[in-house]
Amino acid sequence: MKAGQIVDEYIKFFEERGHVRISNSPLVPENDPTTLFTSSGMQPLVPYLLGEPHPQGKRLVNVQNSFRAQDIDEIGDNRHTTFFRMLGNWSLGDYFKKEEIPWLFEFLTKKLNINPAKLYVTVFDGFEKIKRDIESEKIWRTLFESVNLNPDERTFFYGADKNWWSRAGEPKDMPVGEPGGPDTEVFYQFDVSHDEKFGKTCHPNCQCGRFLEIANSVFMQYKKTKNGFEELPQKNVDFGGGLERLIAATENQQDIFQTSLFAPIITTIENTTAKNYALNQKEMRVVADHMIASVFIIANNVRPSNKEQGYILRRLLRRSFDNFDLLNGEDINSVLEKIIDQYKDTDDYLVEKFALIKNVILEEGQTYKRTLSEAKKFIRKKYPSTGSERAGSMDEIKGTTEISAEDAFSLYTSHGLSPTQIESLGFTFDRQKFAGLMGKHQKISRAGAKTKFAGGLADHSEATIKGHTATHLMHQALRDVLGNQVHQTGSNITSERVRFDFNFERKLTEEERRKVEEIVRQRIKENLPVHFEIMPLSKAKEIGAIGLFDEKYQEKVKVYFVGGPEPGLDKAYSVEFCGGPHVRFTGEIKSFKIIKEESLGKNNRRIYAEVE
Ligand code: ALA
Repeated sequence: MKAGQIVDEYIKFFEERGHVRISNSPLVPENDPTTLFTSSGMQPLVPYLLGEPHPQGKRLVNVQNSFRAQDIDEIGDNRHTTFFRMLGNWSLGDYFKKEEIPWLFEFLTKKLNINPAKLYVTVFDGFEKIKRDIESEKIWRTLFESVNLNPDERTFFYGADKNWWSRAGEPKDMPVGEPGGPDTEVFYQFDVSHDEKFGKTCHPNCQCGRFLEIANSVFMQYKKTKNGFEELPQKNVDFGGGLERLIAATENQQDIFQTSLFAPIITTIENTTAKNYALNQKEMRVVADHMIASVFIIANNVRPSNKEQGYILRRLLRRSFDNFDLLNGEDINSVLEKIIDQYKDTDDYLVEKFALIKNVILEEGQTYKRTLSEAKKFIRKKYPSTGSERAGSMDEIKGTTEISAEDAFSLYTSHGLSPTQIESLGFTFDRQKFAGLMGKHQKISRAGAKTKFAGGLADHSEATIKGHTATHLMHQALRDVLGNQVHQTGSNITSERVRFDFNFERKLTEEERRKVEEIVRQRIKENLPVHFEIMPLSKAKEIGAIGLFDEKYQEKVKVYFVGGPEPGLDKAYSVEFCGGPHVRFTGEIKSFKIIKEESLGKNNRRIYAEVE
């Protein structure tokens, strides 16, 4: 089945069961300091899974563009992709296992027409005080029996390492405050025999390629605390199914890159390189996957750089160029055109942005060439015997030159060249020593990432909630002082500080800055009540709610009011679109201080403030 068809069937199926479609959130999350990219459908829904009421109700459905940077190194096999689209349905404290599992089974077998005999499921086996999920197992048992299949042969129990889901992974890796829960996963079995290289017997989580995970229903009902797990105020369902993998199952195609979604892109790569896919699978898969991901990331306004999302984009593009070079490819244009062709049915805005996307990619290609030539110069200087000082002359050097592992590593850190790229330039070095340097480096950056993750992820910590309300006060205060043309263009809140972006053409004067601070402090002192109302979008606009919101699919919105004892709007100090959560009274905030203000380019400023 085609991607667009599956999406339509899925949305319709869940709409018929009382779900409201919500928008596909941006690939680069707006207000989540813990992650560079949206990597699952639930990510923008965390506040609601933790108990905040969602404006669209308790049953939601969508398709979410997702990117998993951690999978970059896995690309090249038959099933991993960094960019994918996730079908998602959610129950926010509404239905639970006995609805979710039969609906999923019905959708897979009746709407996608997957033969039930090809399906295998896994269920949670228990962890510490959280019991084995016999309820899900019973439901699956009944479903398999209803189609005359033996449930004992197709239901498998696994522990928390496999059948538990949270953004941070297993229970032991979850930071305090993070929601998670047991899950049940559905696997599709291909008609291939088991490869004993991966273990004596095959089972759904075996890596031999016979099984492919196609669906995951998470029963998100726990929150990690300092003393273990506690129940969330509501029992949620968080379902995710990778569209690319569902296509593979409907087409009984073990190689995702040979499904109707990817095959035309692979054929284009074959045509433009005059090479055969069967003999160059890994390279062609990397080119296809990385270029697709790059197209979407660029469409989300990221540009190649050495930082954060820009760095990931750069890495994707450069790996893709390298593999394309290995295939002697010259014309990347035709590949890009085919990508847009294949994805435009679900993401039509790509067509409009194509010229821009192409420019960014071609420019990065040029930058990369320059980087390579600089890297060669650097080596030539250190190892004069490798050739003359004349720029470009390195290309004339034949054979390989041995360089130190430290220099190779320096090429990696300063020029962004991978060991394979360095070798392809004609240099050899002690790979083992390089791996040692790399290990040390990764340990340091992992530690950094962990701190970042832990700091921000306890995102419903008291500090973050206070920061959030202070941001609303500051937003309104800026409008009071600078005028109503000022509005938010972005924000990012961690437990350490708040960051707020807004449109304004110049630096604030000392006086203006002081006034903004004074107003916010005054509102804190007044101990104003904070409440929200869910209302039609048209009404929210009518009452002048400010802030960022998405008009697509949003009929009802949540609006937070600061001040105004009654839900009477005129009296509120701040009226703003927002998902929450917030403090109940502004007096819960103890202090507010602007620590920095800077320019973000034309007509865009950024403020950092400390809130306690
Ligand atoms: N959030 C779950 C996942 O990403 C459904 O697999």
